[in-house]
Amino acid sequence: MKYAVAAAALVIAASAAFVAWIVAGMAPRTEFVPYVEPKPAAEPSYLQAVYSPLHFRPAIDAATDAQCLACHREVLEDKVRAASPSGLKTDSLRAGYQETPTYAGEQDTFHRRHLVTPLAQRLMNLRCNTCHQGHEPREEAQGAAADAPPQADAGFTLRKQVNPESTCLKCHGQFPWQLMGLPGPWEAHKAAFADNCLTCHAAIRSKRHEVNYLNAAAIEQAGKEGADACFGCHGGRSWYGIAYSYPRTPWPEMPAEVPAWAKDRPTRSEARFIGGARP
Ligand code: HEC
Ligand code: HEC
Ligand code: HEC
Ligand code: HEC
Ligand code: HEC
Repeated sequence: MKYAVAAAALVIAASAAFVAWIVAGMAPRTEFVPYVEPKPAAEPSYLQAVYSPLHFRPAIDAATDAQCLACHREVLEDKVRAASPSGLKTDSLRAGYQETPTYAGEQDTFHRRHLVTPLAQRLMNLRCNTCHQGHEPREEAQGAAADAPPQADAGFTLRKQVNPESTCLKCHGQFPWQLMGLPGPWEAHKAAFADNCLTCHAAIRSKRHEVNYLNAAAIEQAGKEGADACFGCHGGRSWYGIAYSYPRTPWPEMPAEVPAWAKDRPTRSEARFIGGARP
């Protein structure tokens, strides 16, 4: 009996001690530092920026210009030097492309000529991702590493950040006078056609430029004023010895027979450029 009382007293004492221990453990500890989710750095590190998901597919396909310009303001803000490193003044030099009749204003940078000059804004609606579809920042080559764009990716070509054949060539190729049945180059024969492409093109291949990076109505308006604007993108500013193989969009008066040169042509513009204003 004595033992039972002593055992019960022992159990109660032990329980009390245990509860006291738990309660003491629950009290706030002075050395305790609660976990707080770290704030993202205000500016990403250089490497984080280089590998920003926006540089790669799929994010780049939906990227807005504003998203790119948040880091790349220099693309629109930089101007050409007033003088070359050897001292030649820019305004005393004329580059070949400045001789086109539509060229206006001072010499300007490549990006500004496509995005902000008056002619660019009137005729075109180019976006960063019209040309930039993502590239491999380290090797600038497809398939260079397991996480690089695959070999099949034609969004850029080796050591470049764009694919010139599917971008530049569209507006900087030769004038294919041969397939138009013209007797020779446009410069030599334009007088015979009143220096106006619409002499023929009012009714030939008249469904054109229905892509979201061109201002189709403004281009037709410019074409009524003469051939210079049309020729500008179809031979007048050719950096290439070849012409682009445009899609041959069916037009109302289209003859049923397809000419041999057009057998392999697509009949509609690239899917990524069809429909809606771009972001
Ligand atoms: C978070 C900032 C950031 C964003 C957003 C960003 N970039 Fe970049 N980009 C960089 C950095 C940093 C580099 C590396 C520059 C270097 O190494 O010279 C770079 C490199 C590039 C290059 C290659 C330059 C070179 O010389 O190799 C291109 C082209 C480019 N970016 C285009 C874009 C486009 C187009 C977008 C939008 C879709 C975009 N960037 C969004 C930061 C950014
Ligand atoms: C007409 C096509 C085109 C458009 C539109 C375009 N780019 Fe580029 N961009 C290029 C080409 C071509 C290069 C040079 C690529 C190379 O060196 O391989 C380039 C180079 C760059 C570079 C590398 C640094 C430099 O200045 O050379 C950056 C960054 C860049 N582009 C960002 C942009 C951003 C941001 C936009 C949208 C505001 C844009 N680009 C729109 C074609 C374009
Ligand atoms: C959708 C049509 C279009 C595409 C695509 C295009 N360009 Fe142009 N490019 C133009 C037009 C229009 C001008 C004249 C702009 C002006 O006079 O203000 C021009 C002007 C130029 C100039 C001279 C402008 C200057 O002052 O520096 C160069 C160089 C050039 N383009 C190269 C390229 C390259 C390289 C690409 C491909 C990355 C390209 N273009 C893609 C239409 C285009
Ligand atoms: C004598 C009439 C004539 C004149 C003038 C003319 N074209 Fe054409 N053009 C044609 C014909 C015909 C075709 C081919 C039609 C077809 O697809 O069967 C053609 C096709 C084209 C194509 C598509 C080429 C391709 O590979 O798919 C372009 C671009 C073009 N012309 C631009 C112009 C421009 C720009 C001018 C003015 C500088 C012009 N043409 C003046 C008759 C003409
Ligand atoms: C700013 C540059 C630019 C100007 C200016 C321009 N074009 Fe084009 N043209 C293009 C591009 C880019 C394409 C290819 C669009 C596509 O992929 O559907 C094209 C396509 C064409 C085609 C083939 C259309 C088809 O789908 O069958 C013809 C024809 C043509 N242009 C004639 C003209 C004529 C005529 C003018 C003047 C009224 C003119 N272009 C002015 C850039 C231009």
